[in-house]
Amino acid sequence: MKSVLDNHPSLKAEVEKVAEVAGYLWQKGWAERNGGNITVNITKFVDDEIKALPAISDVKQIGITLPYLKGAYFYCKGTGKRMRDLARWPMQNGSIIRILDDCASYVIIADEPVQPTSELPSHLAVHNRMLEQGSPYNATVHTHPIELVAMSHTKKFLQKDVLTRLLWSMIPETKAFCPLGLGVVPYELPGSEALATATMHELEDYDVVLWEKHGVFAKGLDVMDAFDQIDVLVKSADIYLKAKCMGFEPDGMSDEQMKEMSVAFNLPK
Ligand code: 13P
Ligand code: ZN
Repeated sequence: MKSVLDNHPSLKAEVEKVAEVAGYLWQKGWAERNGGNITVNITKFVDDEIKALPAISDVKQIGITLPYLKGAYFYCKGTGKRMRDLARWPMQNGSIIRILDDCASYVIIADEPVQPTSELPSHLAVHNRMLEQGSPYNATVHTHPIELVAMSHTKKFLQKDVLTRLLWSMIPETKAFCPLGLGVVPYELPGSEALATATMHELEDYDVVLWEKHGVFAKGLDVMDAFDQIDVLVKSADIYLKAKCMGFEPDGMSDEQMKEMSVAFNLPK
């Protein structure tokens, strides 16, 4: 079957990166069934030929108005689609959408009318904010990492920056590669506008946020960068849990060692 990727090599490479990360999410055990979703702003890869493509769906409402998305294009995982399938067939398990001029609706333009993820409001609200800020970030990833979701089941870890400090202190790299830490979004209904708004606000101060009792949501330069940040945080969570399983509370790096990291790596916090 003909694909829009066939004669757009840079777009193809970007979508293939999404497929690669989708495979990682499945292998990590973070993507049961259709769990998780990925959205990438692909506007910079869109030429006149793609702009001229007709809609292959009805006009669909986003649910919110997002003024900075006017005329933007996104690759989105399809709702109900599996990451393990997307890893092999990204254009059958995801689609390309065009945001319409009212900034509140979109149409699907390629390759097949695969309905985008139910978390589209969260993804697009964050992309809208990133464009407003002139941010170089292009990708958003939502996934269900076991360790971090487990840790979100106690109030203690939901207090501001309690998890950030704990995860940073498990291994020096976490602070270096996830220098803003982990924000927390209190439980909201999946796919809701309330979740989208809360996520967008919390991502003002963080690159990755924890959705209480659900998963994480990250933004990044590209899909690989967003994945890396989640992966680093989950590594720390795993170290913490393994120590607890061995029967002790891990000491963690000292405040002094953490401060030394911040100075050495010129970190913001
Ligand atoms: P979708 O299949 O609609 O992307 O939903 C998966 C999910 O993780 C919802 O939070
Ligand atoms: Zn989810």
